[in-house]
Amino acid sequence: MKNHSKLNDIAVIGLGVMGKNLALNISDNGYKVSAFDVDNQKIHSLVSQAQSESPQLDPHRIQPCLDVKSLLNSLEKPRVIVLSVPAGAPVDGVCAALIEAGIASDDIVIDTGNSLWTDTVAREQSYQGQFIFFSSAVSGGEVGARFGPSLMPSGNLDAWARVAPIWRAIAAKVDGATGLPIERFEPGNPVTEGEPCTTYIGPSGAGHYVKMVHNGIEYADMQLICEAYHLLSAGLGMAAVDIAAVFARWNQGSLNSYLMGISAEILRQADPLSDKPLVEMILDSAGQKGTGLWTAVSSLQIGCPAPTIAEAVYARAVSTQKALRTELSTRLQGVNANTSTLTDDERSAFIDALEDALYCAKVCCYAQGFQLMAMTAAEQGWQLDFAEIAKIWRAGCIIRATFLQSITEAYQADSKLSHLLMADIFATSLSDKQYQWRKAVASAVMQGIPVPCISSALAYYDSYRAPTLPANLLQAQRDYFGAHSFARIDGPVQDKFHFDWSGSRTLNKL
Ligand code: 6PG
Repeated sequence: MKNHSKLNDIAVIGLGVMGKNLALNISDNGYKVSAFDVDNQKIHSLVSQAQSESPQLDPHRIQPCLDVKSLLNSLEKPRVIVLSVPAGAPVDGVCAALIEAGIASDDIVIDTGNSLWTDTVAREQSYQGQFIFFSSAVSGGEVGARFGPSLMPSGNLDAWARVAPIWRAIAAKVDGATGLPIERFEPGNPVTEGEPCTTYIGPSGAGHYVKMVHNGIEYADMQLICEAYHLLSAGLGMAAVDIAAVFARWNQGSLNSYLMGISAEILRQADPLSDKPLVEMILDSAGQKGTGLWTAVSSLQIGCPAPTIAEAVYARAVSTQKALRTELSTRLQGVNANTSTLTDDERSAFIDALEDALYCAKVCCYAQGFQLMAMTAAEQGWQLDFAEIAKIWRAGCIIRATFLQSITEAYQADSKLSHLLMADIFATSLSDKQYQWRKAVASAVMQGIPVPCISSALAYYDSYRAPTLPANLLQAQRDYFGAHSFARIDGPVQDKFHFDWSGSRTLNKL
């Protein structure tokens, strides 16, 4: 598309890593961009990067704006303004500045940060009448933002109609026939063919909710890979570079994913200072910004089991308690597992079992995430299209993985699928691989190597395939000490009984 007017198509406010790269991506796709940041240096660095990267393109395609008022004046109406500022108070700070500078009621402000979805719902309401507060979560990190992220827009449908062409242009693309990403990382030469990784998610807040669950899955997926690394390094005593080779091989099969690929690459990297593998020189204390935690909290609040996602959040928490772990390591006994006597065949059998375990646990993480979205959608009245959500995660985002194509197909075959593990492909593959999964977990347990995510996923699998769980005893305990009553297996579930456990020992129907 060609804009012959003197005014620009869209603005980006906040030119940190994500905002700068989104602005470059948008301008690569032929849109004229106004750019503003409170830090002048960032504005100039964007403009000079655009010119040096693609000198053949119009040098004015990105217009630096030194304040919000001039940014508003530089835009076609109704205006489209992308916010790429940290979640929380900064979003409201920019909105207040836009109101003061005279934003119009039909202008659209798109929050692309990792905002808490309930804040997004509240913002859409509170800014009503002043401008249209729209949201679009973005996944893909720096490279994704620059050359094609996965975009999860939600909110006002008229705003989406206006934003959609730009979003489809800048999103990552997938080859419709193979379901594989079409990747090209060339400034000024965006991918224009293929299926764009963006879809309207639903009403206000839905996009940020779906992105939050994406991040919960991301936390679990990362931790699973770390547990496999731990088993191969501490368990089998393998060198980082050899583990890299195993991960690279796994990345050719059903475990193919962006996170597996970068993990192999990380493990191959030597430290420029010590010449040891760089990964071994990095402190084992992981940070977090909160989206995994929000996912776990949401799952607890709505009563959706997502233990593997929650365990991934706990794993980061325990990793940060380095001093306490070091102290306890001198107090608590483990086992002296000796894997050095394993034959080559036994070692490679273990690696194969671990590959299957990782696949099964990974499927369970996704199953937890999709069930969580389904339960929240039912509660909120959102009509989420899970085939479309799986589709837009096939490229651009951090959890992109080949097997998202299978999830897409599972939901395309049955949009009302009660649980991902009900889909033939996953029910069959997990049933086939579950023995290998148990072998890997058993070995970890016997070696004293913590695998909270791989093992919690197995407990999840075993819980969901159990028609009977010991909650009968639990319900009896509740009735014993609190007269909480229970239902019987030989009558309607709504009929409640109380047993006088320590007195008359009589059964009373309530
Ligand atoms: C993405 C990422 C991105 C970021 C998160 C998680 O999809 O591009 O999820 O949003 O990595 O901020 O970061 P933390 O690990 O710091 O919570």
